[in-house]
This record gives sequence, structure tokens and C-alpha cells, in this order.
Amino acid sequence: MHKDTKLIKPILLGVNVDHVATIRQARGAGYPDPVHAALQAELAGADGITMHLREDRRHIQDSDVERFAACTQTKLNFEMAATTEMRAIAMRIRPLDVCIVPEKREELTTEGGLDVASNANAITELCHEFADEQIRVSLFVDPDARQIDACASAGAPFIELHTGSYAEARLPAEQAAELAKISEAARYADSLGIVVNAGHGLTRYNVAAIAAIPEVHELNIGHSLIADAMYCGLPEAVRQMRALMIEARQAGRFGHTQ
Ligand code: PXP
Repeated sequence: MHKDTKLIKPILLGVNVDHVATIRQARGAGYPDPVHAALQAELAGADGITMHLREDRRHIQDSDVERFAACTQTKLNFEMAATTEMRAIAMRIRPLDVCIVPEKREELTTEGGLDVASNANAITELCHEFADEQIRVSLFVDPDARQIDACASAGAPFIELHTGSYAEARLPAEQAAELAKISEAARYADSLGIVVNAGHGLTRYNVAAIAAIPEVHELNIGHSLIADAMYCGLPEAVRQMRALMIEARQAGRFGHTQ
């Protein structure tokens, strides 16, 4: 089909406000408030807000999630490890989406994707429990067909492809190879009926190629957006990121099925 006649799917921006809380926790102060930031991001056009309540509570606190869940105008994507404690919190707060991630105490940020293939029983059970409560589950995985097959078997309606290796690649050839893996994984997951999100390490400089992948539904972006907000304010940072994503999607410059 000719490029101009093909329907272009919209691309959504989920804003992760964890690092607003990181600044607050660095001083144990009452500011800045990630809920305030989340509401500003929503007003500037964010399609949803992500909060990762880590086991060690290093940034987002339970009360942040509770306060935001009670007043969001878009949606809360509650990022969590597959623990009994987090499952109970999610069931109580009832976000629209949960994203299951691996979590290690010593890591600076989420380092790798979830090993769904090796934890199939527990993850399948969690997917079913959340589905029974109309909470949509996304599994954060590396762009790897084996993991995507495991996500499909677990009954996950969404996955989030880990873009960290792409974002960290320094050489153009290395970055192109990582992009090809993400693109192929997105196409494969889409062919299995899974909705594909992506995120980690995305910035205004590297977002276009990922946003241009036609199967990608939503990008979750945190650290670079909060950093940009220091210079231009959060609403402007959100508007600029959204514009870059939409422009890349419409141009289809990097897409493989156009
Ligand atoms: N998606 C997931 C599953 C994550 O764990 C993170 C980091 O918290 C992000 C997206 C956002 O990554 P970044 O802060 O690098 O934009």
C-alpha cells in the first residue's frame, strides 16, 4: 500500500515522574511533589503517568501513588516488581495499567528486562489475577523472541520493550543493530496480538527512531524529560518530546512497513 494511503497509528507519551521524587528524597523535603509534576505533565499533553514504587522506596512513596491515582485525568501506569507486597498495593489502588519489572536493590535503575520465560508460572498467575480485576498488565522485556513468546503464553495484553541497549549504544552501527532488534521484536509481538510499548533511556536525541516504529503504541520516558524540565520547565519538555514523537511517527522516516 502506498505510504500516503496507510493509516498511521498514533503514538502516546507516558511520563515517568520518579525522578521528581528522587530530588525530594535527596533532602527529605516536602518538595518537589511528583503528583504536582504529574498533573502539569497531563495538562501539557502527556497521555499517562508512570510511577515506580520500588521495594526500597528510594523515590516514589506509597502516598504519591495513592494521591495521584485519586486525581489523574489520564491514567496511572503503576510500575512494580512481582512481589506479594506490590501486588496487594496495585489491587488496592487499581491503576488502569501495571508494568511488571525486575528489581534489584543495588541497581541505579531497572537494568534488564524481566525473564518471563524462566518465571512463567508466577507471571502467568499475576497476569490472570490482574485481568480478573480489569487491570491491564504490561511485561517489561528485552527485544527477544523467546521472551515475547513467553509473554504471549502468560496472557499479557501489553509488553514494554527495553530500549536501554539502543539508548546506550555509542557507535552508529551498534545503535542500528539494537534498533533493528526492537523493530523486529515490535513487529513479532504485534503479530501475536500484543500491544507494544517501549522505554528506558530515551531522550530528545534518540527518540525519533523508536517513535517511528509503526507497531509501537506508547513510549515511557522519565529521566531525560525531568532533566530537560530543569532548563525549560516540565510542560515545555513534555510538549517538545510529544512533538518529536508525533513528527517521527508521521514522517515514518525510520519505519519498516511504510
Ligand atoms: N520503562 C521502564 C519499565 C522503566 O523501568 C523506566 C525507568 O524507570 C522507564 C521506562 C523510563 O526510563 P528513563 O527514566 O530512562 O526514561
